[in-house]
Amino acid sequence: MYLQVKIREKNITIVLNNGGEKSGKCDEMLTKGNLECIKGANMTIPQQLSEQLLAALKNVLGDALPEGFEPAVTASQDLRFGDYQSNAAMVLAKQVKTNPRALATQVTEAMSDCAVATLEIAGPGFINFRIRPEYFAARAQAMLTDDRLGVAVTDKPKSLVIDFSAPNVAKPMHVGHIRSTIIGDTLARLARFMGHTVVTDNHIGDWGTQFGMILWGWKNILRAEDLESDPIEALLDVYKKVNTMCKEDDSLLPVCKAELVKLQSGDEENLGIWKRCIEVTKTGLERIYAQLDISFDYWLGESAYNDALAPLVNDLLEKGIARESDGAVCVFSDGYHKPQNDPFLVQKNGEWAAVPAIIRKADGGFLYATTDLATLDYRTEHFNADSIWYVVGAPQEKHFKQIFDIERMRGVTGDFRHVAFGSILGKDRRPFKTRSGDTVSLQDVIDEAVARATKVVEEKSPDMPADEKARVAQIVGVGAIKFAELSQNRMSDYIFDWDKMLSLSGDTAPYLQNSYVRVRSIFRKIDSQEFEIKNITLNEDAEIHLARLLVRYAEVVPSTLDDCRPNLLAAYLYDLARAFHSFYEACPVLKSEGTVRETRLALCELTARVLKQGMGLFGIQMPERM
Ligand code: ARG
Repeated sequence: MYLQVKIREKNITIVLNNGGEKSGKCDEMLTKGNLECIKGANMTIPQQLSEQLLAALKNVLGDALPEGFEPAVTASQDLRFGDYQSNAAMVLAKQVKTNPRALATQVTEAMSDCAVATLEIAGPGFINFRIRPEYFAARAQAMLTDDRLGVAVTDKPKSLVIDFSAPNVAKPMHVGHIRSTIIGDTLARLARFMGHTVVTDNHIGDWGTQFGMILWGWKNILRAEDLESDPIEALLDVYKKVNTMCKEDDSLLPVCKAELVKLQSGDEENLGIWKRCIEVTKTGLERIYAQLDISFDYWLGESAYNDALAPLVNDLLEKGIARESDGAVCVFSDGYHKPQNDPFLVQKNGEWAAVPAIIRKADGGFLYATTDLATLDYRTEHFNADSIWYVVGAPQEKHFKQIFDIERMRGVTGDFRHVAFGSILGKDRRPFKTRSGDTVSLQDVIDEAVARATKVVEEKSPDMPADEKARVAQIVGVGAIKFAELSQNRMSDYIFDWDKMLSLSGDTAPYLQNSYVRVRSIFRKIDSQEFEIKNITLNEDAEIHLARLLVRYAEVVPSTLDDCRPNLLAAYLYDLARAFHSFYEACPVLKSEGTVRETRLALCELTARVLKQGMGLFGIQMPERM
């Protein structure tokens, strides 16, 4: 057990609990064996600095330090100012009425023996931290023997349900569903990796009014052979055709509606057809999900909650949360929020007008909101969920705000989030459509991506055996679609651009996959026995920078999940790959010797591992060659 760590110049002294001391040069002492001696080595670096900063502030301010104060430490935008910075002295100086620079100076002095970083003051009182290269080396060294590459498991595990993909049976799976599928799957992977208990649920729309037309179409125009060859397409086609027929012939719509009523009242034949529709859709969807390497723990579609809807509405009526309005049952604002934050109000001509959530129509039918309330109940009860994340497009924002607010009125609280996203646009900046103006099907997107990736692989490695080529093209094509999605800020609309997403340069999956292949090729050139890492010692700037980024992985992964922003991890992986290429240009690896070679090989090894694991969290595989 350690007591204290002192660093002077390049020397470090570790004072042990038993009164003994160990001292030596930083680069020798800060190796993995001694890393545990440094307080907070199990935290991320900003957490660790924040904790040390807090101790220093306590020292300096004593009782004047406000209770519960947590100094913020963030990554610096510009490395010239160090690796991290804190505005704590400025924030506190205001509160305790002292000069911020003077406070920063006192704090910096109190932290002068910090083993992690050297400190500088900038501007009106920013504290800048420059991490000691020896400390990067020590952390990098520890990563070598850690399967999690430095990422700690969460200390606040959630019981989390993630609701994503959720297309509608016999309706086109539109680009919104593509985004949801890819973002949702990544969040599930990240959450599991962080140690949360995760249930993924594909809440498909299997009980909508579309079944009126589908049922009539099934009985009258569907061709069995179409259903065989491409069930999703066949149902979609039926839906579209009947839709057009209804527009041309007024008498057809009531006939379709009658089919729907029969289904809803439990007619055997219609229930049978409905079940078949869901079965074939599921089979078709499973085929697509398999190509994307995506799966679900549950497929509890909307229909799973049919029996719960009537009692739920009655309960809300009894509790006075819902009331009748023009024959329908609605939930109105309870005045809990300020009007501008109230999801049951909108501003109209300078006045606040009510937008109630309708949970039962005047004709007795239930709605999307009713199902979602019942679904939330089921998840909290059955899966013990304290957190539910809905990965659904931004247009449904009001719907989810209302659902969560009704739950609040009922006393049900938790980490309920609408993880929203914008739209996908074509190169012309208009909604992404096929040439004929149809919505783009996910299967077509996958096929096209794999076809294009095949060309990329063929050009790069003409001699690769055909079956490997096909496998690599699949990985590269699917990876390109996923990465193009995940590297965007999910809230912004993004432009779907085939050439860009498959390019071997720029922030694309193929670029990262190719970087991985380059690193791996270094190791193919050496005999694995020859490769043993005893010590990481960083000298060159390019080495230090690569280590800096490798070590940062431990803080990027948790923050990516916290904000549900896969683009943070994507941007990080791109930076890492670029840092690797600069390093590889500046620092010969195989031609170097001794500790230098060991260090460089270790950095290569870690780069490959972080790239592979990081992309794995996106559900993107890395080929060994391409
Ligand atoms: N099926 C819905 C749609 O296509 C998405 C469902 C999202 N999940 C939910 N629990 N509402 O818009």
